[in-house]
Amino acid sequence: MRQHVNPLSSNFNEIERVPSLIEMFSDSKLNFHLDIGCAAGQFLFDLALVNTSWNYLGIEIRERLVKTAKLRVQEKEIKNLYFLFGNANNILNNVQCEFIIKNVKSISFNFPDPWFKKRHNKRRVIQPNLINILSNLLQSGSLIFIKTDVKDLFDYMDLTISNNSNFKTIDKKDFNYSESFNPTKVKTDREKYVIENKLDIYENIYIRI
Ligand SMILES: C[S@@+](CC[C@H](N)C(=O)[O-])C[C@H]1O[C@@H](n2cnc3c(N)ncnc32)[C@H](O)[C@@H]1O
Repeated sequence: MRQHVNPLSSNFNEIERVPSLIEMFSDSKLNFHLDIGCAAGQFLFDLALVNTSWNYLGIEIRERLVKTAKLRVQEKEIKNLYFLFGNANNILNNVQCEFIIKNVKSISFNFPDPWFKKRHNKRRVIQPNLINILSNLLQSGSLIFIKTDVKDLFDYMDLTISNNSNFKTIDKKDFNYSESFNPTKVKTDREKYVIENKLDIYENIYIRI
């Protein structure tokens, strides 16, 4: 079992320099997707190789995973994939990163750490402040995808997003994945484990109206 990283530790107050989209991707004009808490990034590697008409950015708080993922990107010479190390809440709350939110077409939160104990709920990545920032800066029509196997966490994330009147839930049954960041419904590592173990998956999609 891995130790969870406490995102509220002062270790994450400083954020690394965030390059421009032109520095991150060879074609910065492509549609752009952000995956928050991407771990080693396998989901994004799978997506980036198949969907070369999208750019993908992963943010992950475990530095070693990000270093390894960055090396892999270089070795494989992938031009539509980039990783950032840090607490996503601090990164996205920083003025130098506003361009990320202003340009992104969609954001995924796949199986975020649940932080079960009530007193640890404030460590969960989806917080009212983050949703306010996204609400203020996202272009209308941008999408947020949430997915988890923990019902309590799902209810918490759903309430936090739904409390913001700028976001509306989209019915998954009506959603056309073929034009999304994930047309072939690539699965994350945690999702594969959850499916193998026949656990429930709770998910929602929200649109910035
Ligand atoms: C349960 S794992 C899920 C990984 C992957 N998304 C998946 O579905 O397989 C949650 C990941 O989010 C990362 N994480 C937790 N809080 C974070 C934060 N505030 N900012 C960035 N990453 C975070 C953790 O380090 C971990 O890699």
